[in-house]
Amino acid sequence: MPVLQGRPASFRLSAGCSGPGSESRRVYRAILRAFALIMGLAAAQSAGPSAARSGRITRRGKTVTPNLHITNHPLALHKLTILRNQKTEPKKFREVVRELAMMLIIDATADLPVVELPITTPMGAAVGYKLADNIGLIPILRAGLGMVEGALDMLPSAEVWHIGLYRDERTLRPVEYYNKLPVSPTVQVCLVLDPMLATGGSAVATVDILKRWGAQRIKFVGLIGAPEGVKKLSEAHPDVSIYLAALDDHLNDIGYIVPGLGDAGDRQFGTA
Ligand code: PRP
Ligand code: URA
Repeated sequence: MPVLQGRPASFRLSAGCSGPGSESRRVYRAILRAFALIMGLAAAQSAGPSAARSGRITRRGKTVTPNLHITNHPLALHKLTILRNQKTEPKKFREVVRELAMMLIIDATADLPVVELPITTPMGAAVGYKLADNIGLIPILRAGLGMVEGALDMLPSAEVWHIGLYRDERTLRPVEYYNKLPVSPTVQVCLVLDPMLATGGSAVATVDILKRWGAQRIKFVGLIGAPEGVKKLSEAHPDVSIYLAALDDHLNDIGYIVPGLGDAGDRQFGTA
């Protein structure tokens, strides 16, 4: 299978042929291959950070949101494959969720302001930098818990504020069961952590809670999104940027992301 930079090719070409007329078929297939390669590269570009910057991420020709950032990093693609594999055990699954969270946090914090910090190196005076803002990590229980350690590896001074929501299995609507946010905000930037953005109900409810709390700047950091969830979150909160490792195809009739990875909470905590 041909390998495109940063993204697996989404097409498969058959092996060469022989026999009468094979020359013209070879030429025809070479043209098809070149066309497919160009289309594949275009798809990889349209799903990458450069497309997010240009404000047009599309899926099946539909504009989803200008605020969607999908990492195109080969390591993220590899790690996501481990998570998608139904044979991956909870221990490995948790390890990879943590690693992917680290990678996505790098993306999600790329535009945060810094302030100068004068320091002294062994060679003399230098100007260093530190983040200008206090950062809050807001994992949505349960599945968001698995992203906290990776996020804290990158942002050791971040505060962690948990929000507990579960999806009602019948209505798919989020039900809040835990919230211990202090009376007024203690951070300037909130990074909401949840591996799955399915219908978007849990993410929208969490951002609603944070905005009522007085949060100034909020970003959503997840692993896999469905187009339905991305649309719902970006329509309800267009100011919230979304950082994902993949935008999948669709939701099934019980609200699970396809192809997805199954139930992110169950797979981390062995409760399937
Ligand atoms: C999962 C997931 C999200 C939510 C996404 O949690 O972790 O919070 O579903 O779905 P949505 O976009 O349709 O709201 P779940 O309700 O299964 O709870 P759990 O993490 O406790 O298992
Ligand atoms: N929650 C999950 O854990 N997985 C999905 O696919 C959808 C919601």
